[in-house]
Amino acid sequence: MKSLEAFINAVMAAVSNCRLYGVDHPYVDDNTRRALQVLDEVLSGRDTLEIMVIDDDLVVNRQPMKKRGPQTENFLKRLKERGISRVEIYRDLDTDELRRFVEYMAGKGRGLEGVKHIRVGVVSVACRGPSEVAEESQTELMEYPEEIKGIFKSMYGRGGLFSEINIRSLEEMVLDFFITLKREVSLLRLLAPVVSYDEYTYTHAVNVAVLSMFQAESLGLSGKMLQDVGVSGLLHDVGKVFIEKEVIQKKGALGDREINQIKLHPLLGAKYLSTIKGITPLAPVVAYEHHIRYDGKGYPSQRAGYRQHPCSQIVAVADYFDALRTVRPYRGAVSVRDTLSIMQKEAGRGLNPFLLDNFIKVILPAMQ
Ligand SMILES: [Fe+2]
Ligand SMILES: [Fe+2]
Repeated sequence: MKSLEAFINAVMAAVSNCRLYGVDHPYVDDNTRRALQVLDEVLSGRDTLEIMVIDDDLVVNRQPMKKRGPQTENFLKRLKERGISRVEIYRDLDTDELRRFVEYMAGKGRGLEGVKHIRVGVVSVACRGPSEVAEESQTELMEYPEEIKGIFKSMYGRGGLFSEINIRSLEEMVLDFFITLKREVSLLRLLAPVVSYDEYTYTHAVNVAVLSMFQAESLGLSGKMLQDVGVSGLLHDVGKVFIEKEVIQKKGALGDREINQIKLHPLLGAKYLSTIKGITPLAPVVAYEHHIRYDGKGYPSQRAGYRQHPCSQIVAVADYFDALRTVRPYRGAVSVRDTLSIMQKEAGRGLNPFLLDNFIKVILPAMQ
């Protein structure tokens, strides 16, 4: 059962990374390989691994799996959401096939046609001949609120990637990812490197969400609050959608007019998010406040004594960190240690000193 859990953990880590960063992220590859490495052990002499969902149980090779870790729970939940009640995995499964399954579980990709060593179907308990195992229809598309789709499409500017993300909600996405985060040894490997400006906005948003949740969890937040922090982190820069793309993507120095335009993104983001039903009220607050500094300076400018919401301060720490870690045309990524020492100079000025301290304390071991 131990190797089975390792297998499921690796598959789910790949699924989370695939959902968030796309199937080409190196971590999807790493995790599918890791899963394949333990498959022999999982099969332990058999030809097939059979996983069935029966009510709220996971039945593996006819044995109910009683003890389930968070990733296994997540796996079960995902199977149910995808309408999958039976998965058969055969010996000789290869990396490419497993990647296709990961994509399929992530609600992306071309489906499982042509994948020989994984079969997915709907179980029929009464009569269980192979012909009764109906192939699952692969047309299912999960609901994804139109407004959010719109935000992401324009955020990314090329339409394609986000329209392919079939997820029920942002909340589920951040929580799902956080479960992965908790299982991973190295946070650094989980954060996607930002390689081009084209991918900057999305990758930065996800990184900020992860780093914000990481801090919030270390401070004792859990459940819905933790989720709300993740969603707010994910959407903190959404106001950039309303600013000319040429200005956002400009590589050279910015003129005054352009700087003033960029400085509008907190207000525009907050205004936009406050019109979206069902989103946490923290999201517009964080979007509005994330460039206000701890000492009350920054933008949009505020009356003296204005204090940011603590969640905005958490996101500001994550934002600062990820911005410095980004590879820019004129410089490479700053190392973790250098980033942290630059940040330390902002203690009590740009950033909340208590939160910064906590961030450094928890981030260093997680980055090893
Ligand atoms: Fe921003
Ligand atoms: Fe940002």
